[in-house]
Parts: sequence; C-alpha cells; structure tokens
Amino acid sequence: MQFLGDTDHAAPRLAEARLGATEIGRARTQLVDNLRWLVGAGFVHADLSAYNLLWWEDEIWLIDFPQAVDVTTNPHAFDYLHRDLGNVCTWFARHGEAIELDDLYAELIAIAGTR
Ligand SMILES: Nc1ncnc2c1ncn2[C@@H]1O[C@H](COP(=O)(O)OP(=O)(O)O)[C@@H](O)[C@H]1O
Ligand SMILES: [Mg+2]
Repeated sequence: MQFLGDTDHAAPRLAEARLGATEIGRARTQLVDNLRWLVGAGFVHADLSAYNLLWWEDEIWLIDFPQAVDVTTNPHAFDYLHRDLGNVCTWFARHGEAIELDDLYAELIAIAGTR
C-alpha cells in the first residue's frame, strides 16, 4: 500500500479527520463495503477502530493489519469481528451515523460462511 498524505501531512485517522455529516455517511458506506470485501477474502482485522482507519481524498482506508486473523481457521475470529464492529459502530453512532451492529455482524458471518 502507498503512503497516504501529502508532503506536509500524513492522511488523518478517522478519529481525527473532522468530517462533515455527508462525509461521515460516505465513510460508513465505504467501511461496510470494505468489511464485506475483507471477510469475503477470508480475514478479520481484529484491531479495527477509528484510529486504524484513514480518511484521504474522500476515501476510507483500513490500516494496521499485523493482528488480522483467518476467518475460517481462527477459533476467535467471530469474537474479534464482533469487537471490531462494536468499536466502529460506537464511533459512528457518536458521530450521527447509526450502524445496526447485529445486522452487519450477521451479514458478515454469512459472507464468511460462503467461503
Ligand atoms: N498515512 C499513511 N499512509 C499509508 N499507510 C499508513 C499511514 N499511516 C499508517 N500507515 C500504515 O499503518 C501501519 C500502522 O500504523 P499505526 O496505526 O500508526 O501503528 P500502531 O497502531 O501500530 O502504532 C503502519 O505501519 C503503516 O503501514
Ligand atoms: Mg494502529
């Protein structure tokens, strides 16, 4: 992955990016799409939070993957997934974008199950 930022600043973390309401909505849609893709590819991030998400040029980026786990072989993968979703759902709810955690969790588990 390339460096995200410009010559003066690294891309801000979502927690620090001071997005407006429209951008928060976009960030939420993009995050959910990324999580569908990630679980579909067989991984749970396992350290997901607004500090491991960057916002750059209207796009969200997931970073900091060293503790990512295999969704099919790690016995704790779904626990980590639930914790990840709790972190980001809490952050988005505080910023005016409710995400239905249980629905998203069920959807992602179903995606994992089709692997
Ligand atoms: N602005 C950025 N552009 C691209 N990748 C980044 C950027 N900031 C951080 N990363 C990537 O995310 C990894 C973890 O960053 P960070 O969350 O700051 O580390 P930690 O939480 O371990 O202190 C970095 O090693 C780097 O690969
Ligand atoms: Mg980090």
